[in-house]
Amino acid sequence: MKLFFLPLISAFFLFSCSGDSEDDLKETPSTTGQEVNLIFEKDVKPLIADRCLKCHGSPTMFGAPASAVYVTFDQVSANANAMLARMSNGSMPPASEGMLSASFVETFNKWIDDGKLEE
Ligand code: HEC
Repeated sequence: MKLFFLPLISAFFLFSCSGDSEDDLKETPSTTGQEVNLIFEKDVKPLIADRCLKCHGSPTMFGAPASAVYVTFDQVSANANAMLARMSNGSMPPASEGMLSASFVETFNKWIDDGKLEE
C-alpha cells in the first residue's frame, strides 16, 4: 500500500530539483533571474575602465601596444574577441594587477553573446 505513493513522491522531488537548477543557470551578474541583454555603456564600459584602461587608454601606457586602445564602444567592439581570449586565459590584466573575477569575464562574454549592444 505504501509503495503506491512512491512514484508521486519521486516525481515531486524530480521537479523541484530541475526547477532549482534552471534558476541557477539563468542567473548572471547583472540580472536577477530575468533575461536581460547587456549593454556597453552600462554593463561593460565601467568594468573595462576599472581593470584595463590604466594601460589600454588613449594613449596606451606601461607597454600596451599603441593600437590596443579600449576606450570607445567601437574600439572595444572591434577587439572584443581578442580581449575575451586574454581575459579567459588569465593573461590579461597582467598578474601584477590581480586576477579578474569570474563574473567580470562572464559579463563580458554575455555582452558578446547578446550581440555587442551599444546602449
Ligand atoms: C598593467 C597594464 C595592463 C593592464 C591593466 C591590462 N593590460 Fe592588456 N596589455 C598590456 C601589455 C603590456 C600588453 C602587451 C604585451 C602582451 O601582449 O602581453 C597588453 C596586451 C593586450 C592585448 C593584446 C593586444 C594586441 O594588439 O596584441 C589584449 C587583447 C589585452 N592586452 C587585453 C587586456 C584587457 C581586456 C585588459 C583588462 C581586463 C587588459 N589588457 C589590462 C598591459 C596591460
